[in-house]
Amino acid sequence: MAKNNTYHPIGIFDSGYGGLTIMKKIVKELPDYDYLYLGDNARAPYGSRSFETVYEYTLECVKHLFASGCELVILACNTASAKALRTIQQKDLPHLAPNKRVLGVIRPTTEIIGNYTKTKHVGVLGTSGTVSSGSYLVEIKRFFPELKVFQEACPMWVPLIENNEYETAGADFFIEKHVKALMNKSKNIDAIILGCTHYPLIEDKIKHYLLPEVKLLTQGKIVADGLKNYLLRHPEIESKCSKTNGLKFLTTDLTESFDRAATLFFGSKVKSEHLNL
Ligand code: DGL
Repeated sequence: MAKNNTYHPIGIFDSGYGGLTIMKKIVKELPDYDYLYLGDNARAPYGSRSFETVYEYTLECVKHLFASGCELVILACNTASAKALRTIQQKDLPHLAPNKRVLGVIRPTTEIIGNYTKTKHVGVLGTSGTVSSGSYLVEIKRFFPELKVFQEACPMWVPLIENNEYETAGADFFIEKHVKALMNKSKNIDAIILGCTHYPLIEDKIKHYLLPEVKLLTQGKIVADGLKNYLLRHPEIESKCSKTNGLKFLTTDLTESFDRAATLFFGSKVKSEHLNL
């Protein structure tokens, strides 16, 4: 991609399509900025990969977004936020790009979860990587130490969604299995975080297995509000982001299949370019 001195989009990264559910809400909330989306579809899913691998892949993508002009990158992927964000912020940024910023999706979610529960029992549904990292447990404890957090890893959900198999009876089986397993950990759970940016696509199916009084929190609006707030508090970053309402999409896999699926996640037409990493 041609780099120039005036193009400074906000970078949005995910292992695949999931980050588009976040980008959709961000663009709605903050329509003036330029955005550059990068989906590492060729190497998705990340959810079952090691810390080292998720960190290595995420850093490579962040470096590419920086080289393309991004001053600010959002890791719109819980797995990358859980396994790579802290190391990138603390170890890499200081020498790689001390004036650029990388933010994740876990913190904005954990900052507000306490406002949604009366029973103080909350659930987290996520990939195996996100759940085993313990990031949600640690972050929620910082903001709401009184909460009891119950997690359930759903390793089949992202592959079913990435392969467009989520409307099938096979998908229903795995959705029911994990929702019930979570609720069996505590009958008092009254708020659940969808801790994977792919899951909004199966939100209605998940709700089908929950009592109506259980709140299901998707991250798109939460992250968009968090970003809006961040930009207000950080004019030194905000002033560097270009504003020509430009949307660009990159995928490390085939553009034709990306465009087809991405249009579903994003809610309007997507035309991507291929990126070789
Ligand atoms: N959307 C990513 C997340 O939020 C999916 C992870 C994956 O690639 O398994 O965790």
